[in-house]
Amino acid sequence: MTQRTALITGGTGGIGTAIVRKLATQGHRVATNFRDAARAEAWRRQMADEGIAVCMVRGDVSDPADCEAMVRAVEEQCGPVGILVNNAGITRDTTFHKMSYQQWTDVVNTNLNACFNVTRPVIEGMRARKWGRIVQISSINGQKGQYGQANYAAAKAGMHGFTISLAQENARFGITVNTVSPGYVGTDMVMAVPEEVREKIVAQIPIGRLGKPEEIAHAVAFFLGEEAAWITGANLAINGGHYMGW
Ligand code: CAA
Repeated sequence: MTQRTALITGGTGGIGTAIVRKLATQGHRVATNFRDAARAEAWRRQMADEGIAVCMVRGDVSDPADCEAMVRAVEEQCGPVGILVNNAGITRDTTFHKMSYQQWTDVVNTNLNACFNVTRPVIEGMRARKWGRIVQISSINGQKGQYGQANYAAAKAGMHGFTISLAQENARFGITVNTVSPGYVGTDMVMAVPEEVREKIVAQIPIGRLGKPEEIAHAVAFFLGEEAAWITGANLAINGGHYMGW
């Protein structure tokens, strides 16, 4: 396997950490961004204890200038980015009639506009080198919508629109662009949903449990190898059977 530099945004989070571990285990050089230096340092030490060296760069994915600087810093420290996983995401759940403009823009900026901010400084290098793998981490709720998530569902659906356009524009440059849409995974984000609401959601999952972050990381890794070179513009839903739409 060829070793690549993989930039995973939001790598310190629940699904992000599993993706970092998986890609590092496969032999890639892994990089991620952070906002809170103290939290990031504790996480970096934990990874180091597991034998995983992570290139960590300060940067807010909702800020285009930060992202430009972040990508340049990663490239200086770790080499050209061959794999990009747009994973960073937040929720600001509330029904739409109570939603503030701030709750709307925070979610759209961090989940969707981040795809522009981080991918734009990466794409030209991938095109010049004629190789690249880009994966968006979307959500089941971008596919089916969710009560209390008009902001999040809109951003997550938009991420797949981004995927299928980029896939068309960059196919002839050896770049594949795909989406992974996780269902409800046992991370802090999902555990923050009120318990009685969460229990009702889990009851709707045919497999009968929350997903594991490693199960999402496995799907991301599937898109990265040479064997996946003919898969582009796809959306891989992993949700325990919770939503089976096309
Ligand atoms: N369908 C129909 N009605 C629903 C409903 C649903 N799915 N969910 C709630 N309601 C009803 C309630 O029964 C209640 O009805 P009554 O007023 O008649 O009692 C009413 O809606 C409550 O509405 P409110 O506007 O007052 O809502 P609230 O302030 O109580 O909170 C909420 C609403 C914040 C959306 C809360 O229900 C919630 O947290 N829902 C979970 C949202 C969710 O799934 N988030 C996922 C986070 S994890 C993630 O996003 C990761 C990923 O990708 C999957």
